[in-house]
Amino acid sequence: MARRGWNALAKWRDHRMGEGGDLWPRALIDPTLLRVLGPVRGLEVLDVARGNGYLTRRLKRRGATRAVGIDASLPSIRLARAREARRQSGAEFVHGDITRLTRFDAGSFDRIVANMSIMDIRDADRAIREMGRLLRPEGRVGFSLNHPCFDVDERSGWLIERHWYQE
Ligand SMILES: C[S@@+](CC[C@H](N)C(=O)[O-])C[C@H]1O[C@@H](n2cnc3c(N)ncnc32)[C@H](O)[C@@H]1O
Repeated sequence: MARRGWNALAKWRDHRMGEGGDLWPRALIDPTLLRVLGPVRGLEVLDVARGNGYLTRRLKRRGATRAVGIDASLPSIRLARAREARRQSGAEFVHGDITRLTRFDAGSFDRIVANMSIMDIRDADRAIREMGRLLRPEGRVGFSLNHPCFDVDERSGWLIERHWYQE
């Protein structure tokens, strides 16, 4: 989906995700993702394509020394900052594109999480390369993806599907 699509959905998504994520993240996705990431106490964590920031704040509350949520949608980042202002966790929210996050040096993070987002990033290869650059040598990435069966032909954000359909 194009950036303006995410901008238009930002308020609705913020309402839906609230402080703890909606049913699917709460019941299915986040418990597994948090297990994959392991303890974050004392670590620096990057939350990629963060939407309303609920998971970034959760990671900060779990003891991360730094938890940064980035998203290419400015309205989403503003809503995440507003939530943070109302109920502080210490999480930071940065407007940025994960395919070129030059404001952070190489090896800035111990953990990177990309929750339900890689399939929505237009240049997923570049995003993954950038995550590799930002990760410390012993670091760990945790990600979740939509199953392709839930995608809609031609409107799919799945890079791999676009390649299949073009061939
Ligand atoms: C399905 S939402 C996932 C939001 C969040 N991870 C969650 O679990 O609630 C996908 C997000 O990816 C963001 N996004 C898309 N392309 C991006 C990019 N290149 N860099 C950073 N964020 C991007 C969109 O703005 C949108 O907020």
